[in-house]
Amino acid sequence: MPRPLRGIAQIPGDKSISHRALILAALAVGRSRIAGLNEGGDVHSTIAALRAMGARIESQGDGAWAVDGVGVGGLLQPRAPFDCGNSGTSARLLMGLIASHPTSASFAGDASLSRRPMGRVAAPLRRIGARISGDFLPLTVRGLAPAIPTRYRLEIPSAQVKSALLLAALNTPGVTEVIESAPTRDHLERMLRLFGADIECDGARIALRGEAGLAPQDLTIAGDASAAAFLAVAALVVPGSEIRILGVGVNPARIGLFETLGAMGGDLVFSNQREVSNEPVADLAVRHSALCGVDVPPEIAPRMIDEYPVLFIAAAFARGVTRAAGLAELRLKESDRIAGMAAGLRAAGVAVEESEDRLAVTGSGGAPLPGGASIDPAGDHRIAMSFAVAGLRAKEPIGVAGMHCVQTSFPGFQSALDALGAP
Ligand code: S3P
Repeated sequence: MPRPLRGIAQIPGDKSISHRALILAALAVGRSRIAGLNEGGDVHSTIAALRAMGARIESQGDGAWAVDGVGVGGLLQPRAPFDCGNSGTSARLLMGLIASHPTSASFAGDASLSRRPMGRVAAPLRRIGARISGDFLPLTVRGLAPAIPTRYRLEIPSAQVKSALLLAALNTPGVTEVIESAPTRDHLERMLRLFGADIECDGARIALRGEAGLAPQDLTIAGDASAAAFLAVAALVVPGSEIRILGVGVNPARIGLFETLGAMGGDLVFSNQREVSNEPVADLAVRHSALCGVDVPPEIAPRMIDEYPVLFIAAAFARGVTRAAGLAELRLKESDRIAGMAAGLRAAGVAVEESEDRLAVTGSGGAPLPGGASIDPAGDHRIAMSFAVAGLRAKEPIGVAGMHCVQTSFPGFQSALDALGAP
């Protein structure tokens, strides 16, 4: 029997919110302070780009940062290409930022990011007047100022595309409107309100009046629900476990995994719900549970998009089959996450059925996985952490090559598991 996980789990600040906090602070006039910033590699890519455009961004230790902004419209011409590393959020949000400024910037990234589609964000930005040299990195964005306000319907539910256009709208005269086809994380909308932007959200329609100033803020970043997901699933599958995770972001657009785990019979209890910097957070208690397979409907995908890899691990321990549909976007993430998870689960002795946009996983009914596999996560942090969790309850070890990729989003992943007493 593996040792149960016990105690209070440490999670980083939310990665999505951290990018947005830095960008808005860099556009405000004056000094903002940010507590609990996610200090992973992705967020550092955004920090470096914002510094190159004139913002002063300094670590004050322990997740606290100070940002001196340049004002909306005040970004300087960067001298060198932005290295976005592995970070799709950095690339897409910063493309939006440049699009309405009288500057140009070149964007580069690692091999994974260079394969990811940028046409979805380039299309609306071209419409407002930006010139964009291609639909994949490396590419150059030449901004237009003043840009042309637009009304854009998002066909793909993507918070990154929505956010890129809203960031461009900040320095665009008049009103820019975005219409969502399905709700996606609204962290930027919430934070824009906090910084005093003129934004209206009415169902699927978001309208932002540009060329208004932003006021600096003192912010606290909610805990990352996507990081908490790995520890929650670890506690659910390791017998005898009982953990608490404090200050988890529970934005309704991010908690699809927790709802699904609850439907599978997982013992997850949220308490002490409160707000930090306009985002709901709560404390989460998780206990080992007997899980059962469920059908996961496609509509929930935008609300748990980053959590499918670890959901499939939970499914591997459930009784019966878990079937998830509507997963086409998973093939376009840091890696092809349907293929990567299917291959890894098979190697670890789990029966899976894969199709273009679906995955079905037959669970062990709570028994340990056969294991005895060596997983190549292809540099994808979420696949690496998922199989590290699976390895906590396997007859033979599950090795994961290149675990350092977890630095992208959750630098303290291993120490968080260690602190809970994981082997
Ligand atoms: C993110 C949005 C999602 C998510 C990504 C972060 C964001 O991507 O998968 O990890 O911060 O806006 P899409 O917008 O491509 O769905």
